[in-house]
Amino acid sequence: KPSCKIGPSILNADLSNLYESCVKMIDSGADYLHLDVMDGHFVPNLTFGHPVVKCLKPKLPDVFFDMHMMVSQPEKWVEEMSNAGATQYTFHIEATSDTPKLIRQIREAGMKVGIGLKPNTPVETVLPFVSSVDMILIMTVEPGFGGQKFMQPMMSKVKILRDKFPELDIEVDGGVSPATIQHCAEAGANMIVSGSAVVNASDPAAVIAQLRNVINK
Ligand code: DX5
Ligand code: ZN
Repeated sequence: KPSCKIGPSILNADLSNLYESCVKMIDSGADYLHLDVMDGHFVPNLTFGHPVVKCLKPKLPDVFFDMHMMVSQPEKWVEEMSNAGATQYTFHIEATSDTPKLIRQIREAGMKVGIGLKPNTPVETVLPFVSSVDMILIMTVEPGFGGQKFMQPMMSKVKILRDKFPELDIEVDGGVSPATIQHCAEAGANMIVSGSAVVNASDPAAVIAQLRNVINK
């Protein structure tokens, strides 16, 4: 499988010190940042959007920003997110009626493309698009909130993708911690999002190192 990367989600971090929270993650060994955008419509919660990314990016110019777009109209924010400095635009397949068009739009805006699947969405829905994107995100909780319980049955989706696409970046997101990372590793995930387990830890660097050890085996 491709190289393993750890991307903390700062959703549950101290957002009044967003920049410092991000720096802390990078200094703790994070490979990228997973930024959760919620619109109160696709998911029952609100976070932040491109204006925040635009302020953050100039201070963290070399950091890979993986935008997890939990929004109902992902077409709508491609241009703004690109201008704000997003590296990768991960939309949900449930949120668009024209996936190929959206993929093209994101590429033309100069970003990498990810497609996310909610827990009830079969992995088959995404298979036709895998070869034209950079990453598939398998949600391991219902999107909307940090700190939920890891859904182990989602690992069968990861396995199916890994068997078919040995080189694909496969991301898992939701409830991933030192207690659940083994399942992700065995199934073949290589991009590991971890929110509360990392940001709430007294020693985030130790938790990131722990996740990395298991996933690299
Ligand atoms: C959930 C978000 C996740 C989540 C991760 O809707 O997409 O990124 O915040 O947080 P934990 O690891 O606490 O589940
Ligand atoms: Zn996320």
